[in-house]
Amino acid sequence: MSYDVIVIGTGPGGYVAAIRAAQLGLKTAVVEKRKTHGGTCLNVGCIPSKALLHASHMFEEARDHFAGLGIGVSAPTLDLKTMQAFKQEGVDGNTKGVEFLLKKNKIDAFIGTARIAAPGQVEVTADDGSNQVLETKNIIIATGSDVTRLPGIEIDEKIVVSSTGALELESVPKRLVVIGAGVIGLELGSVWRRLGSEVTVVEYLDRILPGMDGEVAKNFQRILTKQGFQFKLGSKVTKVENTGKGATLTFEPAAGGAAETIEADVVLVAIGRVPYTQGLGLDRVGVQLDSRGRIQTDAHFSTNVTGIYAIGDVIAGPMLAHKAEDEGVAVAEIIAGKAGHVNYDVIPSVVYTFPEVASIGKTEEELKAAGVAYNVGKFPFTANGRAKVNRTTDGFVKILADATTDKVLGVHIIGPEAGNLIHEAAITMEFGGSSEDIARTCHAHPTLAEAVKEAALAVEKRAIHM
Ligand code: FAD
Ligand code: NAI
Repeated sequence: MSYDVIVIGTGPGGYVAAIRAAQLGLKTAVVEKRKTHGGTCLNVGCIPSKALLHASHMFEEARDHFAGLGIGVSAPTLDLKTMQAFKQEGVDGNTKGVEFLLKKNKIDAFIGTARIAAPGQVEVTADDGSNQVLETKNIIIATGSDVTRLPGIEIDEKIVVSSTGALELESVPKRLVVIGAGVIGLELGSVWRRLGSEVTVVEYLDRILPGMDGEVAKNFQRILTKQGFQFKLGSKVTKVENTGKGATLTFEPAAGGAAETIEADVVLVAIGRVPYTQGLGLDRVGVQLDSRGRIQTDAHFSTNVTGIYAIGDVIAGPMLAHKAEDEGVAVAEIIAGKAGHVNYDVIPSVVYTFPEVASIGKTEEELKAAGVAYNVGKFPFTANGRAKVNRTTDGFVKILADATTDKVLGVHIIGPEAGNLIHEAAITMEFGGSSEDIARTCHAHPTLAEAVKEAALAVEKRAIHM
């Protein structure tokens, strides 16, 4: 068989690249080593975590808030098996959806592990050991990422778990200790806290969510603490002893000092992810990696070997599904001779807790470091009519605009629906818009989006409801 494009990996990067390539008339195949398509995101990432976040939020709402709305229900009970089945149904629906789209676009799908035998040759080894070599003009590597391990700490996915095990727990751990106050730790920590776990987060740095705007992170930590999270910041984990029934975790101040121990029923290791290039045969074909093990690419997603491209988590940039998808579209367009492009200055990121945290563009810390003069417009949800009536007033919208041109440089939101609201900022920024543009746009009342408009008005100190 000979193809124009073979994509290795059918995560959000890979399957989207394949669909776009097929749309552009390129004869396309994908190779995926999992039995289902959709990659980390659909199988063990975005989709199952959001299913459990949704279900656990509903559980907490029924338990803690329904009575206040005048809805009388008896205390909700947890049927975790059914909740996990609800999650799995969502995963299956989505992975089957990708399978359908691949078929619809006449993309050949091979299930097996791919190795690049040579430029233009992909060897596929199926589970039963049989293999075949496919010929192609172009190869797109979209093999994603894997869990970062802590040296000396074994992940058994029962007591010491990665995100994958944390999505599969069969009972609610009484004490959950999370190593790493990043996105996974706070999202999955929220799931299990809502369902009854005592959650302690041990973080190496002296703050949560590194990379997020500092004021937002501090505020968010306060909200999570109010919800029951405990934080041990500036702490280095030195040992995790797995007894088979639980674990004892030893940690000490990162700056040095006396060690402490903490008992856990389950320990979640969530200290980041690493690019996954194992078994691809990159050495042999001479594809260069950077110092962090990511495949090095140029502005056109091309590696140093002609005809081999890479996208998604396996290359530089934020490890986010929508970043991988946009790169998938862009690389297919480039291969087809068009002008594919990704605007890395305007990539939203969202933490799907309650409230949500969403961010796009520069943080205050980044603007200060770059010496850019900026104005800040901030508006709290306590002053937003819709948030007030819904009693979801934690959080605020913060807009950072260039002091000279008023161009929006960054927007950071903690609050209900922050993950949807951030797209108002995304569109504005993609069009090079100003805070004045948002402020002059009529926003429907009563909506949470009015807080975005008010924050834009606040850039020039003329918010109405504050
Ligand atoms: P992947 O999705 O990792 O797909 C790579 C695929 O390649 C895999 O299916 C793998 O089996 C396959 N593969 C690897 N090697 C080979 C080989 N040699 N041969 C054949 N196939 C191979 N991002 C968000 O934007 N929003 C979220 O809400 C979100 N939630 C997340 C929650 C969790 C718990 C985790 C772990 C991640 C989450 N992410 C989220 C990150 C997101 O999953 C990744 O950014 C995204 O999946 C990257 O897409 P990708 O296509 O680059 O790689
Ligand atoms: P992360 O990079 O978000 O956070 C890891 C945290 O662990 C950081 O705060 C880091 O300082 C800390 N850390 C590192 N080493 C440590 C150590 N030895 N001891 C204690 N703390 C340590 O990584 P995370 O949460 O594992 O997620 C991986 C990636 O998956 C994210 O970067 C994100 O791109 C993606 N993701 C995205 C989601 C979303 O968009 N909603 C949800 C979940 C994951």
